[in-house]
Amino acid sequence: MNRFENKVALVTGSSQGIGEACALRLAKEGADIILNGRKFDERGEKLIAKIEGMGRKAKFLAADVSKSKEVIKLVDDAIAAFGSLDILVNNAGLETKADFWDVTEDDYDLVMNTNLKGVFFGIQTFVKYCKSNKKAGTIINMSSVHEEIVFPHFAAYCASKGGLKMLCRNLASELAPLNIRINNVAPGAITTPINKDLLNNKKQLAKVLDNIPMSRMGKVDDVAAVVAFLASDEAAYVTGSTYTVDGGLTYHYEEQ
Ligand code: BGC
Repeated sequence: MNRFENKVALVTGSSQGIGEACALRLAKEGADIILNGRKFDERGEKLIAKIEGMGRKAKFLAADVSKSKEVIKLVDDAIAAFGSLDILVNNAGLETKADFWDVTEDDYDLVMNTNLKGVFFGIQTFVKYCKSNKKAGTIINMSSVHEEIVFPHFAAYCASKGGLKMLCRNLASELAPLNIRINNVAPGAITTPINKDLLNNKKQLAKVLDNIPMSRMGKVDDVAAVVAFLASDEAAYVTGSTYTVDGGLTYHYEEQ
């Protein structure tokens, strides 16, 4: 199914993990892709080759989305690259682990600027473009189950994802008249580089799996499939929602 024929998608943080899977999935279904990461390296080169191998166009734009100037330029350059932009996937994100009382201002700024501020101004740039060209658009933010449930020792991360939740709800109302949809995807524990410490710690991993009714980590493709749905016209009446992809983690119940 070529749901994204003649569409262009920008996926931030797409040289690895969930972002890479989203880029490949959208390309597989027909989209031309703007890839992004902080720097262009062999992972980016390989991805371009893969996407071109599918018969699509691909370009890598290096930018640090924690810096508003860079994220604004990224979206502008993405629009210029292939002459249009239809789908914005705000995937780039990071987390730092610390007891709340030890969190430094630098840690806080890094997490909030990457996960929330960069998303805010990336969306704003995309919306200005859609508005002035009277063009429909769709936006998907990579949130987390932690926009809803607690994650001790990750206070700034939870604050950023909670912020993404309200940003999505709020913009859904404001952007609907412009024919722009916005939704969040909330992955649970997915096998990606962000979880490399967890994956290397058997004891902790067993504890995490105990909390997941499906008893397995998620795959990046589990997440990409939902992103593709939300980006497509099949989700034409979906906006302001969060789609959780977590094997049941968020609302699980432990029988006593
Ligand atoms: C975090 C992971 C964590 C998962 C489930 C994600 O948002 O990035 O580190 O394993 O939530 O708690």
